[in-house]
Amino acid sequence: MATAPKPEILAAFEAAKGFMPVDEGLALYAAAVEAGGLGLPLLEVGTYCGRSTVLVADAARTTGVTALTVDHHRGSEEQQPGWQYHDPETVDPEVGLMDTLPAFRRTLFGAGLEEHVIALVGRSPQVAAVWGGPLGFVFIDGGHTDEHANADYEGWAPHIADGGLLAVHDVFPEPEDEFTGQAPYRVYLRALASGAFTEVSATGSLRVLRRTGTGI
Ligand SMILES: C[S@@+](CC[C@H](N)C(=O)[O-])C[C@H]1O[C@@H](n2cnc3c(N)ncnc32)[C@H](O)[C@@H]1O
Repeated sequence: MATAPKPEILAAFEAAKGFMPVDEGLALYAAAVEAGGLGLPLLEVGTYCGRSTVLVADAARTTGVTALTVDHHRGSEEQQPGWQYHDPETVDPEVGLMDTLPAFRRTLFGAGLEEHVIALVGRSPQVAAVWGGPLGFVFIDGGHTDEHANADYEGWAPHIADGGLLAVHDVFPEPEDEFTGQAPYRVYLRALASGAFTEVSATGSLRVLRRTGTGI
């Protein structure tokens, strides 16, 4: 099974608005392909404009499973007007709020991956509360406050099947390196401390853990 994306997929990833560098994207792809081997859906929290979704979706296509991606598409705290990561192009002028759903749909269409992804538009804890099935892969890249990062972990990690993978983005162990807070780092530590997950790889700020025990 190819653990690197084809050049056209990598090009679609690089062309999409988003925050993930290529080295982390390649690690995310490899993990998603490995997890897809379990034959279970791959889930992402934090779609934004579809940059990382392209890789998760192609991994799903490659392994014959479905990718799910969750986002309310109104942006995280640090992406709102006046904040460091705000992009005025993401604002819907009619509504006056961010709406990244159109850009996401264009990204996915351009990459030829629409049929491999189910987009879940809503708040992550609310979607998780009605999700009933096992998952092979959970990638947490949603809100970066402790409240949101913990809710993502508590909502989705219980669904990771035995041997499945948990990926967490923006893990910054050193406070001076962080740019959106250290909540993802604390969630990563929490997952390790639970005894349910074992670290598999670290690439930039991306951590990949495997479920090797029960619980969260
Ligand atoms: C850092 S961005 C995701 C970046 C994306 N994975 C990429 O590679 O470009 C975080 C996203 O999480 C979404 N988000 C934040 N809190 C959320 C929540 N509670 N439920 C659903 N989506 C949320 C925001 O709307 C935003 O699009």
